[in-house]
Amino acid sequence: MSGPLVLAIESSCDETGIAIVDDESRILANVVASQVALHAPSGGIVPEVAARAHLRWIVPVLDEALADAGATVADLDAVAVTSGPGLVGSLLVGINFAKTLAWAHGKPLVGVNHLEGHLYAGWLRDPGEDERDAPPFPLVGLIVSGGHTFLVEMRDHLTYRLLGTTVDDAAGEAFDKVAKLLGLGYPGGPIVDRLARTGNDRAVRLPGTRLTHADRNAPHLKGDLDFSFSGLKTAVLRLVRERQESGPLAEQEIADICASFQRVIVTTLVDRAFEAASRHGAKGIGVSGGVSANSRLRAELTFHGEQREMPTFLPSLALSTDNAAMIAAAGLRRMRAGLFAPADLNADPALAL
Ligand code: KG4
Ligand code: ZN
Repeated sequence: MSGPLVLAIESSCDETGIAIVDDESRILANVVASQVALHAPSGGIVPEVAARAHLRWIVPVLDEALADAGATVADLDAVAVTSGPGLVGSLLVGINFAKTLAWAHGKPLVGVNHLEGHLYAGWLRDPGEDERDAPPFPLVGLIVSGGHTFLVEMRDHLTYRLLGTTVDDAAGEAFDKVAKLLGLGYPGGPIVDRLARTGNDRAVRLPGTRLTHADRNAPHLKGDLDFSFSGLKTAVLRLVRERQESGPLAEQEIADICASFQRVIVTTLVDRAFEAASRHGAKGIGVSGGVSANSRLRAELTFHGEQREMPTFLPSLALSTDNAAMIAAAGLRRMRAGLFAPADLNADPALAL
């Protein structure tokens, strides 16, 4: 390990994560206690259950992270924590724990925006990795998670300009809702991804996801770099209802619907990311957030990046979904810039990037 060590805590949603990262963004520990099994029976996250599970797991997760890194709290140079956006009860558990740890051991506290954390996953080195090209500036970042779909421009570290967002469902939410209406379970993204591999992506005609003229002219929107996925989801719902009139869907039909839906959504994300990059003179595109674990999105982004000579940056699968290493990477940047959290740091469920 080298230089300052940052310990980070992530508890904004349904993963209790604690990581330790060194000065060169090398991951020394990255422990994630997932609550997926806990929430699966209800088909979605139950906020109070999530908060209680964070409280249950946060100490064992800390112990495991310190053991993995071979470090003690005394070795740390800062404690970083996700302060929003997210579920307020879940955020409060992590923030309160981080404050206590920092106060009791005299360490500085750093507050991190969860979406900023997703972007900074692109700067992390995997364990054992000696070198990694840092994403170049200006960078277009596409954050696609369960709660957000953001296209941002980064001209430098810690500076973000929103280029586009979703007017309705987030990309991950669309995957989850389509999986639910097909009776596939929760979370839906990985299941749709898996089933789509055996499906025909042209078997089903679904509408594209272009915004309507009215959407584009709505005063709160930036324009044609925005996204809309609820029409696509409704089209899948209508199709499934129609087909179900003649009995339950066959396995192949489900796979075809998954593949067709995934084709439309991935094409939209990739097209708009490259459009944003060319419009804003980006030297690279970074994609992050849970949906960046999608196999088709990864393949298309890499393919088009090579074709158009636009470098693309994708975190490894484990760093695409929620984890604390990404919060540590962003926390390290903030610490270097002297951006420490005030003592009254609080949870901000709608924190803007
Ligand atoms: O970033 P994340 O772990 O949590 C949030 O900040 O929301 O993202 C979770 C989202 C869920 O909607 C999940 O279905 C989706 O990421 N997801 C995927 C895949 N893996 C996770 N979506 C599509 N394909 C995947 N392989
Ligand atoms: Zn996330």
